Amino acid sequence: MIRWGFLGCGLVAHDVAEDFALVGEATIHAVAARRIESARAFSQRFGVPVVHDSLDALLADPDIDIVYIATPHHLHRDHCLAALRAGKPTLCEKPFTTDAASAAEVIDAAREQGLFCMEAMWTRFFPAIRRIKALTDAGELGELQWLSADFGYPTWRDPASRFFDPSQAGGALLDRGVYALSLAQHLLGEPEAIATLATHGETGVDEQSACLLRFPNGALAQLGATLNGLTGNTAILTGTKGRLQILEPFYRPERFAIEYASAAEPAGRGGGSRLARHPALKKLRRRLAPVLKARLRGQRYTHRWPGNGYQFEIAEACRCLREGLTESPVMPLADTLAVMRMIDTIRSHWEH
Ligand SMILES: NC(=O)c1ccc[n+]([C@@H]2O[C@H](COP(=O)([O-])OP(=O)(O)OC[C@H]3O[C@@H](n4cnc5c(N)ncnc54)[C@H](OP(=O)(O)O)[C@@H]3O)[C@@H](O)[C@H]2O)c1
Repeated sequence: MIRWGFLGCGLVAHDVAEDFALVGEATIHAVAARRIESARAFSQRFGVPVVHDSLDALLADPDIDIVYIATPHHLHRDHCLAALRAGKPTLCEKPFTTDAASAAEVIDAAREQGLFCMEAMWTRFFPAIRRIKALTDAGELGELQWLSADFGYPTWRDPASRFFDPSQAGGALLDRGVYALSLAQHLLGEPEAIATLATHGETGVDEQSACLLRFPNGALAQLGATLNGLTGNTAILTGTKGRLQILEPFYRPERFAIEYASAAEPAGRGGGSRLARHPALKKLRRRLAPVLKARLRGQRYTHRWPGNGYQFEIAEACRCLREGLTESPVMPLADTLAVMRMIDTIRSHWEH
């Protein structure tokens, strides 16, 4: 059994803890939070044997194999550095940190210590996303041209909450935009140019933002995030041979569909077109129409899973520890850093 220590036991920690039952080789050994009462309540709810009264006590526990950091964004850097310096492999919630410089600090510390470290970007580990990555890498959609994705739902307007409080690194980009950016980075790489606009609210945080990205192969992405309303929460990826739609919500996917389409040759040009107008071929085309239509309609893929969907990232972290890997090939630290650089660039545009 790989024994986990939880730092933070709020909303996401509860959802993640529920999925431990789905991963045979993982158990939650200890927990700490800001307040001992919330750590105690969590330990009772999930049968966690040890409750620590501080971060230091948790990190000094020799029976913890890996620390899961589920505290608010602005604490991720310090909590990751403390865990790594205490010799603990670390899984840190998204966003990994609040900017590229602090992400690089954590990554350097992990590499210096030779310890496993990973951003808990759970979207990457879903079977549907693994399948999409394999299909697009194999050229199923042709050359990728366009990605459109957004993440938004209404958020309770509490200025002291981690969503709206600037001192807790609130805002839509770090909380939600990071998912679409990470998907774009996963499928298209790092962009060569970014344009963006944001709307800042009364507390000063970016309540919504829209970004346009251009990638070295000429592909474009339009990505959005909002705290203020319900968006489509889907992702559509277009290539020269077809389009792939990840159904809502794209960041926790179960289903996607591919539709194939290619440009028709203009009528009246070339021998191929003359041949296509031949009466015998026209007749054949009519007979084949239902088959072609089915092909055009495309393929639907369903990858259902039990629980909340966190079992895949937990299992990946356990696999890496078991196999002595310091980084996951699915969510390497270079990808995390690339996304943090994109976030820096986006925010730098807002300042001007
Ligand atoms: N992957 C996902 O699907 C997903 C979903 C939601 C959130 N997240 C990420 O997870 C992180 C936490 O979000 P959340 O919604 O779970 O937040 P939350 O409900 O506010 O929980 C935060 C937890 O951190 C603890 N904490 C706060 N300050 C601390 C400190 N100085 N030292 C030790 N513990 C401290 C809190 O302790 P108390 O309980 O004592 O107050 C609480 O247990 C965020 O970065 C967010 O982006 C990820």
